[in-house]
Amino acid sequence: MFPKVNPTTTQAWLLLKRHFQEEMQRLKIKSLFDADTERFSRFSVRFNDILFDYSKNIVTAKTLQLLQLLAEECNVKDAIEAMFTGEKINETEGRAVLHTALRNMGDKPVLSDGTDVMPAVRKVLAQMKTFCESVHSGSWKGYTGKPIKYIVNIGIGGSDLGPFMVTEALKPYWVEGIQTYFVSNVDGTHIVETLKKVTPDETLFLVASKTFTTQETMTNAHSARAWFIQHAKDEAHVAKHFAALSTNEKEVTKFGIDPQNMFEFWDWVGGRYSLWSAIGLSIALTIGYDHFEQLLKGAHAVDEHFRTEKFDKNIPVIMALLGVWYTNFFRAQTEAILPYDQYMHRFAAYFQQGNMESNGKYVDRNGNDTTYQTGPVIWGEPGTNGQHAFYQLIHQGTVLIPCDFIAPAISHNPIGDHHPKLLSNFFAQTEALMAGKSEEEVREELTNAGKSKEAIKKLLPFKVFEGNRPTNSFLLKEITPESLGSMIALYEHKIFVQGVIWNIFSFDQWGVELGKQLANKILPELEDETGISSHDSSTNGLINAYKAFRKK
Ligand code: F6P
Repeated sequence: MFPKVNPTTTQAWLLLKRHFQEEMQRLKIKSLFDADTERFSRFSVRFNDILFDYSKNIVTAKTLQLLQLLAEECNVKDAIEAMFTGEKINETEGRAVLHTALRNMGDKPVLSDGTDVMPAVRKVLAQMKTFCESVHSGSWKGYTGKPIKYIVNIGIGGSDLGPFMVTEALKPYWVEGIQTYFVSNVDGTHIVETLKKVTPDETLFLVASKTFTTQETMTNAHSARAWFIQHAKDEAHVAKHFAALSTNEKEVTKFGIDPQNMFEFWDWVGGRYSLWSAIGLSIALTIGYDHFEQLLKGAHAVDEHFRTEKFDKNIPVIMALLGVWYTNFFRAQTEAILPYDQYMHRFAAYFQQGNMESNGKYVDRNGNDTTYQTGPVIWGEPGTNGQHAFYQLIHQGTVLIPCDFIAPAISHNPIGDHHPKLLSNFFAQTEALMAGKSEEEVREELTNAGKSKEAIKKLLPFKVFEGNRPTNSFLLKEITPESLGSMIALYEHKIFVQGVIWNIFSFDQWGVELGKQLANKILPELEDETGISSHDSSTNGLINAYKAFRKK
């Protein structure tokens, strides 16, 4: 196992601190562009049909060298190898982290506990392929003999967000005649409203849960099953309408799903990294198995890039280092992901989980509290909606928010001049965030608009933009299964590198357990009208008010 290094004890950290204070804190990105006409080509990387431009960041060549030194001192290279070769880097759960094996197109074995996982991976992929073919060809029939028209994926967190995000992002690839829905929230509204849209004899429910014990998923799955049996009138029909995507055969059987209809994955697949596994069955059924394979291919290409490319050309490493730079030296607390593509409207939400569940930790890998910031808050919405909502604060607020802008050059819906308009906003925003608007520019603009000297003096401070707001731009040729697969893998590996540098365990999620435990304790307390006094006064007060409201 690679050594666990506190990043603040490295030489690079001290040098970066000095570099920040003495050279970078007040430096303007615009001045870097003015001084170097080659800045774009120096600070951008092309990977297949993805252009990654990171030139609009508050960095110089020296910053990047120091950040790369930090990565070296934190053993990022060894950590990458440890992940790819199945070392148990998820130490608190005693597991390997091998989502890269799920999309491995190479012919070399990938070992976990001395066993090559690839034959099992290929077997499940083949099972998924056959299943997709039978559903799409109509040979898989529901209990009245009709083919499947509706897919309802029941899962939450990693068993929902990934497939939901991908199927939305790839809507132009949907198989004709298939309509897919995702149910995640335990709020009964989610399942009830979804069931209104489907017919029992034409619906396939995919119960997606790694553990097959998650309260939300099992509750929704049981309600779906009850609804189904109410219509089908015979439990034997469940076999044609329910499949399980899980690691837990025992619980799947207990639920009443035929193990024949179980698509297996393994404990070395983290929940939030599972869309490449059997959890991706909803994706394959929605966009077709071949497109699912293209998604895997795009991710695999990035895996190779990440594993072999030098740090100065390695996109996920650069993304991670820029994030560390802003989080730990500029003290930025959030990062925005802003796709200029309506289909990608859940991309930020997906990486909100990916990033925050992975790197939202204050205990380091030695069990000590960290003395430095770790994972940022991730958020975002598609452009241009965001521009008319929260961009004001990004431009003129008092906090620094590094942003990732993502856009395809070619739209799937090239009507009129929509796409050039969308993209002109994409280009304009990163330029405006970087360059801002000087006093002189505002003065000139207001003078030309015929404003009096007095009016100009009054308006001036409000209309000046200091700029220097850092952005990355990802310009893709087109959003395809392959390019989307690559984009997802880039962000996954970014999270990984940051976890290594911050010396935290990125692949467990103990932080979500406490709330779950307490909810299980409270649930029986809600059953009757008896007043509760076993909690703090706020929780008691809320529970008792809930009971009182329901009485009336
Ligand atoms: O939120 C915690 C979590 O364990 C996630 O990591 C996971 O994606 C989600 O719950 C769902 O878990 P499961 O697939 O086991 O139902």
